[in-house]
Amino acid sequence: MKNAFLISLILVLLTLARPCAAADLTVSIGGTTKQFSTQELLNNPATVTISIPKDAAYGHAMSYQALPLAVLSRGFTLPQGYGLQAVATDGFTADLPAALVLRDPSNKRAVAYLAIEPPDHPWPKLAGKQQTAGPFYVVWLRPALDDIRPEQWPYGVVKISSAPAPQKRWPAMAVDALLPADAPELKGLALFATNCMVCHKINGAGDAEVGPDLNLPKSAVEYFQPKALHQYIRDPASLRAWKAMGMKGFSAEALSDDEIDLIIAYLKYMSQHKQPLK
Ligand code: HEC
Repeated sequence: MKNAFLISLILVLLTLARPCAAADLTVSIGGTTKQFSTQELLNNPATVTISIPKDAAYGHAMSYQALPLAVLSRGFTLPQGYGLQAVATDGFTADLPAALVLRDPSNKRAVAYLAIEPPDHPWPKLAGKQQTAGPFYVVWLRPALDDIRPEQWPYGVVKISSAPAPQKRWPAMAVDALLPADAPELKGLALFATNCMVCHKINGAGDAEVGPDLNLPKSAVEYFQPKALHQYIRDPASLRAWKAMGMKGFSAEALSDDEIDLIIAYLKYMSQHKQPLK
């Protein structure tokens, strides 16, 4: 009896000792991990209201309370050759190049912000989805000045972490290091890493689980006619369409015809460099 009382007392004390605000965002950079609550981020003196004329997730003008990613990453040390990664609730991961994300927010080029969804004023739901872009969403001021792609606006973000550049992290997706810097396969790899790896694995490489591996067991170039593959990447619904389809395609603004061909050159290269299936 006495023991039971003691145990309940201890439980009550433990509950009281817990921090009141839930940690909503995890930041894990260079081996240091910190949790930030939404309120704490909203209260940060560097959090400002920004207006985005053309928001990538909502498709129209939006305004947000947002903290520059460069400010959020202060107090962490990013290892050499690493970039940042934004991880979303649905497993979507986006690589954010360190050079762009960490530069001083007062510069006149593209600047990345972490938009914070205020719990008392939730954002609108995304078109055709049951969710908003919150709890956190990476948005950009002046994205066109640095050719920021729609895939570099990850929404539903719950974690920001550091990771080596994709082809260092996953050697199975790399191309021959002796290829010249302007080789189509190499350019295609860079385009694939920013635009496609958020959803697809390639040759077993990558984190994403949204779409299929595009090289294993069969490469898309092995079962798509070349023209059809180009058309599919541009506009999947023009080939086959159903309600739950997960790939929207890429407007000419997001990827030019030449860029799609560079990605296909990379896919062809990978089809000749398959990693054995595990
Ligand atoms: C938002 C996530 C997403 C992005 C970004 C994305 N895809 Fe997809 N992709 C999917 C999904 C999911 C499928 C499976 C079909 C579906 O649900 O639409 C798919 C299917 C495909 C297929 C057909 C595979 C098959 O066997 O039917 C190809 C080819 C493809 N994607 C290529 C690409 C390329 C190349 C890129 C980058 C330029 C890309 N995808 C970007 C999600 C994505």
